[in-house]
Amino acid sequence: MKIGIIGAGTIGASLAEKLVRAGYKVEISNSRGPDSLQNLVAQLGPNAAAVTNEEAACNEVVILAVRWENTDQVLTPLRQQLTGKIIIDTTNPFIQNKWLFTLPKGVAASEIIASKVPGARIVKAFNNLLAKWITTDPEVPGGLRVTFISGDDEQAKSIVGKIITDLKFAPIDLGTLKDGELSQAGRALAGINLIQLNE
Ligand SMILES: NC(=O)c1ccc[n+]([C@@H]2O[C@H](COP(=O)([O-])OP(=O)(O)OC[C@H]3O[C@@H](n4cnc5c(N)ncnc54)[C@H](OP(=O)(O)O)[C@@H]3O)[C@@H](O)[C@H]2O)c1
Repeated sequence: MKIGIIGAGTIGASLAEKLVRAGYKVEISNSRGPDSLQNLVAQLGPNAAAVTNEEAACNEVVILAVRWENTDQVLTPLRQQLTGKIIIDTTNPFIQNKWLFTLPKGVAASEIIASKVPGARIVKAFNNLLAKWITTDPEVPGGLRVTFISGDDEQAKSIVGKIITDLKFAPIDLGTLKDGELSQAGRALAGINLIQLNE
């Protein structure tokens, strides 16, 4: 399976590396264009390609790994193209190192992302983890690191759950996108290095 990744920073590049290691192909993009990603894809090997956002968005599953303030710029031009696609939303409403507490209680960040691409199937994942827990090995002695998932499309969640399991994280389903608010920055389940024990 080939997965598009929009955003090639800490989270995008790390997930690309884990996906390739797990046998997936990836197509990854950033704001500066494919030429600027040649070193990264060379390190990732033949199952990785540097592409434009439009090309990354052609995949059935697309990881959104850009900063909150760039989500409009990325998603607006891809609105039509992303209809029916599964978007793994790794973003947090976090701007310039300050939690964006201005999101009213009861507003899930991924519902805001979903409103930018109304036809897409959004699954929130990985956002609850600090970068150091995403970049390192999720298989730890005695168990697997947990990432919460949430979404309104059960089939999409199941596909994303399988991908997460392939990466050796343990997915825990919180429920709908609204329920996923609990995992976003500033809320109760964010920033916890939770391990699901093997027994
Ligand atoms: N870092 C964490 O601890 C952490 C943990 C969990 C979730 N998250 C969330 O994950 C997301 C990514 O975080 P990060 O730490 O990986 O950020 P980052 O290192 O700053 O990387 C952001 C990436 O987005 C790309 N980008 C910006 N504008 C773009 C555009 N218009 N089109 C395509 N790509 C664009 C940047 O490309 P250029 O470099 O070419 O501009 C860069 O590759 C954020 O929403 C963050 O809240 C972060």
